[in-house]
Amino acid sequence: MNVTGSSQSCKKIDAQALAIAVFKDDKADHGLLKELDVATGGLVSRVIETEEFKAKEGETAYFHLADSELKAHRLLLIGCGERDAYKTQQVSQMAGTAARFLRSKNAKSVAIIPRAEGDVEKASQSVIAGAIMGLFEPDKYRTKDKEKRELSRVVVAIEGADEKVLKRGAERGRIVGESVNFTRDLANEPGIFMTPTILAERAKEVAKEFGLSIDVLDQKRMEKLGMGSLLGVSRGSDEPPKLIVLKYQPRKIDKRHKDELLALVGKGITFDSGGISLKPGENMELMKYDMTGAATVIGTMRAIAQLKPAISVLGIAPCSENLPSGKATKPGDVLRAMTGKTIEVINTDAEGRLVLADAIAYAKQLGATRIIDMATLTGAVSIALGDVNTGILGTDQSLIDGVIEAGREVGERFWQLPLDKEYSNQIKSDIADIKNTGGKKAGTITAAAFLKEFVDDTPWAHLDIAGTAWGDQATPFRAKGPTGIAVRTLIEFIERASR
Ligand code: BES
Ligand code: MN
Ligand code: ZN
Repeated sequence: MNVTGSSQSCKKIDAQALAIAVFKDDKADHGLLKELDVATGGLVSRVIETEEFKAKEGETAYFHLADSELKAHRLLLIGCGERDAYKTQQVSQMAGTAARFLRSKNAKSVAIIPRAEGDVEKASQSVIAGAIMGLFEPDKYRTKDKEKRELSRVVVAIEGADEKVLKRGAERGRIVGESVNFTRDLANEPGIFMTPTILAERAKEVAKEFGLSIDVLDQKRMEKLGMGSLLGVSRGSDEPPKLIVLKYQPRKIDKRHKDELLALVGKGITFDSGGISLKPGENMELMKYDMTGAATVIGTMRAIAQLKPAISVLGIAPCSENLPSGKATKPGDVLRAMTGKTIEVINTDAEGRLVLADAIAYAKQLGATRIIDMATLTGAVSIALGDVNTGILGTDQSLIDGVIEAGREVGERFWQLPLDKEYSNQIKSDIADIKNTGGKKAGTITAAAFLKEFVDDTPWAHLDIAGTAWGDQATPFRAKGPTGIAVRTLIEFIERASR
């Protein structure tokens, strides 16, 4: 898709359709809306005055223009609710709504007027990222009723703005939006087409295309490193496990950041059947998205390879299937992790923490100074927070706050859960150092307490994305399916960290 910015007046912009944000208190009696109203013979004021269009969030009013003074022949008003609540997230969603709506009307090009106050580059970036994310469709394997229409050009239109700044924002928005969709595409693939080997291949393609270094550890190397925890999960599967290690290094080492190495670690279970502790059949097909943490890492690395921040970043993804077989790990078995810690496996369905344990230890061995891991780790997190907030826990409050604030900036919400040391009592084992489940209470927290055993004193934050990585319902700005949650937050976090 072609994206750009324009500082021309709305009448002159060369696009098939013009889309503009409208707030609840708008009257079309001054400014841009009035200009559009006059140019269209009063269409805008009429839908507002008759209350046909109330500018509720996600609401639309759509017109074909016969002889108007606009170069564009179609006009779309997009409801944005309260003006005061119009932030980055709302700007992105508005653009997503516009892009989805106009594609469904077979428009090929659109100019979007965001009417966001303040930072032009940020507004431009949010519009383009939002439009690209809005256009994502999960229907790859449909042969009929597939969305074949294509919106091929999106212009951010802010009259009188500096076009260079507009275009810079648009380009950054393109990188971010495409990387989020890249993550969503990976998460959406069925297990048969997204094995650890294939996921590693996709990571290699990204590394090659955008200039990252990559190392993929195979089973032999993992055995040599003593990664018994990760290998205990892959035992039951015929597909070999892979440990993907991507690295981004800034071209010029910035003195301020020379000793820093941020590690992103993402759970890559390409299908989670539960193993011997088999899951119930209902919704099990969704467990193809149990590699979303890994996909988030790869998508984020894809973006930062292009955005080139000033800090070094490691992207690590432990990848395996979790299947039952005659070779599979059994409840009661004891595994020895790379750190030497022994783990009693109570439930083979608590496999995410097992693969992450060795991946976190490996991140530390590679010199990570801060660790952020992300995983579809527990069903309990969606009981606690639903699909609105991502759970965040960890050992370093400033790191946690940094992620929450970056999330706020891009409109992704995180809610911190406590991680007091007492929770670790729940994962003490009678036979080994620790066990992999902590009973019914506080399931999201005891999963994090398990990971903490491998993080030790490295500053660490953990994102449990099990409730937010998949959208059960479509919205005007988003198809149903994988959401790409946390990619934008992590990109924003890294850019802030490199300032
Ligand atoms: N991948 C699941 C968690 C999950 C559940 C993700 C629903 C997305 C939607 C994870 O491996 C798992 O099975 N966790 C168990 C842990 C339990 C056995 C302690 C769970 O949450 O039930
Ligand atoms: Mn599981
Ligand atoms: Zn899982």
